[in-house]
Amino acid sequence: MTIDIVNYSKIKPQIENFSKERYIDPSYMEKEWEDVWKKSWLLAGLESDLEKPGDFFVFDMGREQILVTKMENSQNQGFFNVCQHRGNRLVNEERGHAANFRCAYHAWTYNINGDLAVVPYKERFLNGVPGDDRAMKKVHTRCWNGFVFVSLAENPLAFEEFLGPLNEILSPYNFSEMTLVEDQTALLDCNWKAVIDNFSELYHVDFLHPQHKRMVDCCNDTVRLFEHGHTGVEVPGGTVSPRFPIPETPTDIQTVQLESVGLNPADFKGKVLEIREALQKQKRKIGPERGMNYSKLADHQLSDVWQYNIFPNVVLSFTPEHCWVLRPRPNPTDPSKCEFDKMSLVRFADKDAASDEGAILSPGRREGNQDAFLAEDYVRPIRDVFSYQSVINGNKTMTDTIDQDVELLSAVQQGMTSDGFDTVFLNEDEMRIQHFHNYINQAMG
Ligand code: FES
Ligand SMILES: [Fe+2]
Repeated sequence: MTIDIVNYSKIKPQIENFSKERYIDPSYMEKEWEDVWKKSWLLAGLESDLEKPGDFFVFDMGREQILVTKMENSQNQGFFNVCQHRGNRLVNEERGHAANFRCAYHAWTYNINGDLAVVPYKERFLNGVPGDDRAMKKVHTRCWNGFVFVSLAENPLAFEEFLGPLNEILSPYNFSEMTLVEDQTALLDCNWKAVIDNFSELYHVDFLHPQHKRMVDCCNDTVRLFEHGHTGVEVPGGTVSPRFPIPETPTDIQTVQLESVGLNPADFKGKVLEIREALQKQKRKIGPERGMNYSKLADHQLSDVWQYNIFPNVVLSFTPEHCWVLRPRPNPTDPSKCEFDKMSLVRFADKDAASDEGAILSPGRREGNQDAFLAEDYVRPIRDVFSYQSVINGNKTMTDTIDQDVELLSAVQQGMTSDGFDTVFLNEDEMRIQHFHNYINQAMG
């Protein structure tokens, strides 16, 4: 493992065995709300949900709800989802299109710019007619790479500074050109940070996900640590783990990867370690005729799986062809619960650029292969909300791998509350967890 410390001036990486209170203590949670959630930039949703003026979605975030709309001038803007008359929740739908926002209680009506447009019996307000001073309350809003970010802070850190080098590193992937194909939320019995911890280390892969241990080269990954608590890991794909004997013939996943780009697995008998580079070259070669534009990506990006965590609660796991947006959101009051979102995005081939109707280049995972082109009758998937119990029962799945994580995390939370456990004890492979918590510590003073 290589640890790459990027623009890292304020906090030095050091292992500190922090105590369990942060996962279980309601007063810690209270302070975290003030110091972390109310001050950070937060990924609220997808720009693709706001196509035309009047389109909106509601971002449910702990005790707050943020209504994000496309205003008349086509700018996306977040507002607190609350009526300025007597505080009723203004919008109760998760997503949709509105000509205006009308409160169900006394019919105060706001236009899509958030201005108060209609107040019934307004002459009866003895302290003056409610007007501009009673517009919907705005929050800072920024769109980047297909995502809408909001901040509840009065004066948040400049968004560019918050992202830092992540902008340059992630923008070439053009997530805004990917399409949402699945939208899920699992209700988990664990603290939101246990989810981030889980997606911040590969130490558990060999044990919790034995199906992956031979095909993921975690030994040659690069871990990156950034200012403001972001982290990344870049894992070589199309290869096998050097910790096990190198197989004579391509593994199942390599076979799928080779076939998806028109290469013959039989040609790689005895040459399994050459597959990664062969995939890169082949994608470079056939990308244009398959309608896939790789021009902004380097060769290793064409084969590798990257995962970048944007502080505090976003995990992007991606290849050039797909991206999972993983996002645990805290419960309003209970530190032992969170809502865990998984939005699956896929890059469909550009029909106009493609010269044949070949299959989409595989994301390098057996899960989630899609048809090559976006279906003409595509409709945005409805969000599926379910408990982790239904994952355990086999009624719902977030992919085999994530199911294994989800099924385990409530046991971690239960163990955390035991008198027999005080502090975590991290190793070098868990450096990203440490880095994340260092920034939590910094935010919490
Ligand atoms: S609370 Fe919304 S109109 Fe009264
Ligand atoms: Fe996992």
